Amino acid sequence: MKVIKRIGQGGFGNVDEVELENGQRLARKEFAKNQPLSAELLENVRRRFVKEVKVQSAIEHPNIVPIIQSDLKSEPPYYLMPIAQSSLDDDLRQDKTLGGRFVGAISDIVAALEELHSMQIFHRDLKPQNVLRFTEDEIDIYKISDFGLISMKESNLSELTKSGMGKGSDYYTAPEIHADLRKASARSDVYSLGCILHDMVSNEPRVPFREIKEPGEFGPILSGCTKDDPSKRFSSAKAVLDAILTVEFEPTAVLSGAPEDFLAILAAPEPPEPATWNRLADYLEGQATSQDVAATCGRLTADRIEKLCRDAPEAANRIALIFAEWVSSTAFSFELSDAVANRVELFFQSCDFEAKTECLMALLELGTSHNRWYVERKFVRLCSADMDDNLAKRLVVKFHIEGKGRVCRKIDHLEHSIDFDRKNLHPRLVKALADLCL
Ligand SMILES: Nc1ncnc2c1ncn2[C@@H]1O[C@H](COP(=O)(O)OP(=O)(O)O)[C@@H](O)[C@H]1O
Ligand SMILES: [Mg+2]
Repeated sequence: MKVIKRIGQGGFGNVDEVELENGQRLARKEFAKNQPLSAELLENVRRRFVKEVKVQSAIEHPNIVPIIQSDLKSEPPYYLMPIAQSSLDDDLRQDKTLGGRFVGAISDIVAALEELHSMQIFHRDLKPQNVLRFTEDEIDIYKISDFGLISMKESNLSELTKSGMGKGSDYYTAPEIHADLRKASARSDVYSLGCILHDMVSNEPRVPFREIKEPGEFGPILSGCTKDDPSKRFSSAKAVLDAILTVEFEPTAVLSGAPEDFLAILAAPEPPEPATWNRLADYLEGQATSQDVAATCGRLTADRIEKLCRDAPEAANRIALIFAEWVSSTAFSFELSDAVANRVELFFQSCDFEAKTECLMALLELGTSHNRWYVERKFVRLCSADMDDNLAKRLVVKFHIEGKGRVCRKIDHLEHSIDFDRKNLHPRLVKALADLCL
């Protein structure tokens, strides 16, 4: 393997662009002692490197940098990965809003965190330098990298962090793990996510390890991510993304002909009473214009949808149909689609078959029209072989109503965009698609 040039250097690793014998160019990260360390600590850091490689190799996700090959026995140990176009840090230095598309980058990071946190793995060193940009099928996609601090249980950790491991990370590290890396949780990564968002939406400096308190529409989100007490932060990365969507969907006009101010009711700190949900359903089915529907649906946060489904199931079914129709017929910007899909899934989880079917069709439309793998994968997961058999039958009916042209085109699209085979769908869907899409 021929070294082309150095592309990165950290406390314990060097990253070089290398060329393999077959001409393929990759990035090689190799273990390196770039700072003075005691023999004991060096051994610890080396174990950390080996663990990093093993963890990262075992995870397969579109928003996590893949390890293509590694040699942990060689001296020094190393691994190979695809070469990124740039890091999020480079990109933010060019333009902190990423051309207005920063929510897309946040969505990518959130998708990666969702995957890690679902396995109770915490990154611990999430910062723009550790988020890399790749271009796949002409689409920019950010992937989390540098798993060096993952799941560390060994002793000597505080000594290690002090010795420079956390260097440059101070501006992104949660206070509780600055003191003790073993205190890591989903909420310590949420703290870092809030700091990254702060880089994108604010011009103010921030004080490391402190709650971000700033005015402005993102103020409550930034503070909700960075509370001193982890239990007071957003409970998940997904919840942060949902809150960002709420800012993006801030309604611009009041509702026309509404008997009461539903927008204010939905934005109030306390959720509406069940009877109010019923009146909202009446209004949405009745005199609401499409702008009114859009403004109202935009205000249905994940939290409100959960309350609606729990407190007023009948209204929830009616509103779910309107919500799914709104999602299917709206041209959202690409970067908002993950957060919208999460809301659709909440309706899906608790509604009846009619609404569930419409939610699935909305996900299929949203995913394929935006070419957003996160949404497409959600559809595929909800329609897999372990899907409810009767729901699958109902969806087949819907496929027939929708018409083969539309359904088959979307399924074709899915297969191309997320490397998936329709044979993995529920057997009833497989059969229906075989009949429909000859
Ligand atoms: N696959 C890659 N392609 C391009 N640049 C990379 C790649 N991996 C790492 N880098 C660059 O090298 C830097 C250091 O790599 P990283 O894995 O974060 O190591 P460290 O543990 O030293 O922080 C990154 O911030 C990035 O700028
Ligand atoms: Mg790094």
